[in-house]
Amino acid sequence: MSEDTLHADAVTTAPRPPVQPLRLADGRLALLDQTLLPNEERWIDIDSVATLWEAIHQLRVRGAPAIGIAAAAGLAVAGRESTATTAGKLLRDVQTAHDDLATSRPTAVNLFWALERVMSGAQQFVATIGADAPADLLRQHLWQAAQTMLDDDLAAGLAIGEHGVALLRDGAVLTHCNAGAIATSGWGTALAPVYVGHARGLQLHVYADETRPLLQGARLTAWELTRAGIPVTVQTDSMAASLLARGEVQAVLVGADRVAANGDVANKIGTYGLAIIARELGVPFYVAFPMSTFDPATPDGTQIPIEQRAADEVRQFAGQRTAPAAAEVFNPAFDVTPARYVTAYITEHGVFTDPQELHLHTAAQ
Ligand code: MRU
Repeated sequence: MSEDTLHADAVTTAPRPPVQPLRLADGRLALLDQTLLPNEERWIDIDSVATLWEAIHQLRVRGAPAIGIAAAAGLAVAGRESTATTAGKLLRDVQTAHDDLATSRPTAVNLFWALERVMSGAQQFVATIGADAPADLLRQHLWQAAQTMLDDDLAAGLAIGEHGVALLRDGAVLTHCNAGAIATSGWGTALAPVYVGHARGLQLHVYADETRPLLQGARLTAWELTRAGIPVTVQTDSMAASLLARGEVQAVLVGADRVAANGDVANKIGTYGLAIIARELGVPFYVAFPMSTFDPATPDGTQIPIEQRAADEVRQFAGQRTAPAAAEVFNPAFDVTPARYVTAYITEHGVFTDPQELHLHTAAQ
């Protein structure tokens, strides 16, 4: 039996995600270090909140849903680190970890959504068992909450894939950054329809923008697609217009770090330019995300905080200086695509062309 056939069986019977970058087992959290890909597959054991904060900040774990799940598990790690013996005292230590992890990166709303969700669940749990109850009860609750979040994201990713695949036919798609399996619990968002389509026998070919300056497309998207046996072509970001002008790409598929109430989309820097090119050339522009990425509290894209990163990410390439040290640098990690450029939003609840429909499916806190 070929690997493809095995995979097709997996999707029709027991769906199996292509690769999972977060491991939660026996009260421990481990992360695939994405800064080392594609050259090395090394797992990091997260034994403290400080280790996790560094891992999120340095993009060892990255991609909006994956950051959220890692942060949720970070509150369980905080529970393990604390020496508190009562649930009430432990809750205070978990709140400190919550506040700390909330400063690790600013743009992906999944981070804040996940932290709030686990924190309010922990508060309710302690209100039920009593502040003097044994701290271990809260410790177990926190690991269970992180596991539930991971399981829910897996289900959401697969549903995004199933809804999104209906938009695709045999042929090529273009993606930007990495909104694949390793940006989530295991199915991806923009790449979920590609994985589901591949498993169902669709002949898909993915063009991956390399995604300057940190090369998530070249290093990560190409890594996970080649690993899954899906044909991928890497191109520099500036080649997108030429590619789309050839008329051979059926759709642009991207993920999102935050979708504002009016449907504006914050995603990896370069997404906005790609959306304009797609509109100009008549190529559908799809944004795929779980509802944990939708932020109804942020009215529009101008209100989304955009992470600014270190100048040397742009002044250097592969450790070599490529611009004078004295040159100033513009290095926003994300940009905002106005809602009018989005052909459709692909979520776990379906495909929506009107952003107002997103409000009917807001994620539970
Ligand atoms: O800086 P990164 O690598 O965390 O940026 C990731 C992206 O922009 C992704 O497209 C987004 O988080 C969606 S991931 C499913």
